[in-house]
Amino acid sequence: MSNSSSVDLNLESGDNRITNPAYSSTQPSLSELMQARLSRRQWIAASVAAGVGGLTACSTEGESVNGSQAALLTQEDSTVPSFDFAEIAHGVDYDHLCASDHEAHVLIRWGDPLFADAPDFDVAAQSVEAQSQQFGTNCDYVGYLSLTPEAGETARGLLCVNHEYPNARTMFAPLVRGLEDLTPQMTEIAQASVGNSIVCVVQREGQWQVDRTSPYNRRISALDTQIRLSGPAAGHDRLKTAADASGQRVIGTLNNCAGGMTPWGTFLSCEENFNYHFGGELPPDHPETDNHARYNVPENYMGWDQFNARYDIGQTPNEPNRFGWVVEIDPLDPDSPPIKRTALGRFKHEGAETTLSRDGRVVVYMGDDQVFEYLYKFVSRDAVDLTDRSSNRDLLDHGTLYVARLDEDGSLTWLAVDYDDPRLTPHFDSRAEVLIETRRAAQLLGATPMDRPEDVVPNPVTGRVYVMLTNNSRRETPNAPNPRVSNLFGHVIELIEDENDAAALTAKWDMVVQCGNPEDPQHQAQWHPSTSENGWFASPDNAAVDPHGRLWIATDQGSKARLSGTADGLWSLDTHGPRRGRGRMFYRVPKGAELTGPCFSDDGEALFMAIQHPGDYSKTDREKAQSGLIDWPDFTADEPPKSSIVVVTRRGGGRVG
Ligand code: FEO
Ligand code: CA
Ligand code: CA
Ligand code: CA
Repeated sequence: MSNSSSVDLNLESGDNRITNPAYSSTQPSLSELMQARLSRRQWIAASVAAGVGGLTACSTEGESVNGSQAALLTQEDSTVPSFDFAEIAHGVDYDHLCASDHEAHVLIRWGDPLFADAPDFDVAAQSVEAQSQQFGTNCDYVGYLSLTPEAGETARGLLCVNHEYPNARTMFAPLVRGLEDLTPQMTEIAQASVGNSIVCVVQREGQWQVDRTSPYNRRISALDTQIRLSGPAAGHDRLKTAADASGQRVIGTLNNCAGGMTPWGTFLSCEENFNYHFGGELPPDHPETDNHARYNVPENYMGWDQFNARYDIGQTPNEPNRFGWVVEIDPLDPDSPPIKRTALGRFKHEGAETTLSRDGRVVVYMGDDQVFEYLYKFVSRDAVDLTDRSSNRDLLDHGTLYVARLDEDGSLTWLAVDYDDPRLTPHFDSRAEVLIETRRAAQLLGATPMDRPEDVVPNPVTGRVYVMLTNNSRRETPNAPNPRVSNLFGHVIELIEDENDAAALTAKWDMVVQCGNPEDPQHQAQWHPSTSENGWFASPDNAAVDPHGRLWIATDQGSKARLSGTADGLWSLDTHGPRRGRGRMFYRVPKGAELTGPCFSDDGEALFMAIQHPGDYSKTDREKAQSGLIDWPDFTADEPPKSSIVVVTRRGGGRVG
């Protein structure tokens, strides 16, 4: 066992490790910053007739706008309605809490049977066979693909779900206190509990429920699912192992965090902190040494290397190169192998939300979630064919990956991560290597190191794109797109692609909010002044745009929750109109959890969310939990806390929020 004797997973620590040597490369002085900011604001001011304030908000009759945002109001899109719900209060509780004019129900929990003949969950008798037929653990991304309702149903669809990582301490309590307590059987159960679930859900008489009889229900796992590698890096020597001489076949997918749905109805599942699954040590002077260091491989939180040589980099040094990709899954073809699309680059992929360019190509927005990592997009070579689903089968194998440089003047340049670029050619042997070591290539191109890019979501109604930058306590030098030293609370940036074309090579960026408490000057937070004491949030992680073009943001504060005094949850955030920058709190997770994967049904009348790791308690809470009476969602002595999907609807029906 290497560096960790505890499965008390403090998964944040890896996100906060600096592995980018270029992290402090852009260090303008404060006066340069102010100057750049001023000129950017002058550019904006030139396009508005209205008076424009500085960075701080200016108020008119109680409603106001951030000065930097005034220009955007001239293009206000009247098709984006405002929010309408009863805001809830900040707080922490053992149960979840939803806006009172809405209701929230648990739809499926870790261990619930996914098939008609699957066994019920039994915490004391877990097995690989049972877990392989049950909903996985620690659900994260949720996508919704609508299907035609059957008789007696008002809606039918497939939830496309990620299961990010196993927490053996929770799964096998009280047997596991440290990695040394794991057994081979526990490890296999853990491997079967992650990956993905495809879950058919239906609405009958207003109630959403799981349809266990659907032929589309499916589990994909880290244990035994055969996955293909495709695109420019597939088959490269650095992807080959003793078990796979082709470099094109991998068992399993790891640390599936956020994701996206494509316009042709496939599910993109993102491999994020794959490094947490590897242990061991490379032999001295091994050629993968620098590459693995750049991805912080190994960082052993799982202990799988004890039983599987493929997770020991000393024995299988190329195995980590086969993770860190975006995996495409066809939920409508349960027999199809998932495919790792190497053209989208290899990094700690958070999400992969898609939109179409003006000429009909698919554009995938992606963040690399670690301090001082980068913001990316992929643009396909060919147009999407919405009339013939199968013709999009290999669309994601051909196209250009871009990384973002955000300048002080509010402009953004998309730099092609292209082997033919003279800044890259001398440093790599092929296009495949550029993709395997995407981080190094992006750094050589001069991309802007950001404060942990999480979800990047395009708004299909307005064309604008929202970037969640969750936090970066390690930042010592601010710049305009990452303006705070020791950024504990995160911020949200808006991109406006030139010509409003997602394939554009340049864009404008602007700050929407700087998170944290607007009442505490030390936070240097920036919100619309009508934001209530409950409307501000910290550590934006996942986000969703509802069918009406409205932005919703889920938070993951981790240990920083003690700074905000509230549990994580879901907030609405106005991006258009005079209330731009106003947050409102809609939903709160139970204690210990974070909120992930919000997504909406096509009509916006159902909101699906993942409640991840409830019961990640402090020691005191854990002692209380031995009674079982605080463990969400079952609150019984026999059942452990369970990550779950919750569905929210408006009381009496209608649009959520
Ligand atoms: Fe798995 Fe970046 O959150
Ligand atoms: Ca996330
Ligand atoms: Ca996190
Ligand atoms: Ca998270």
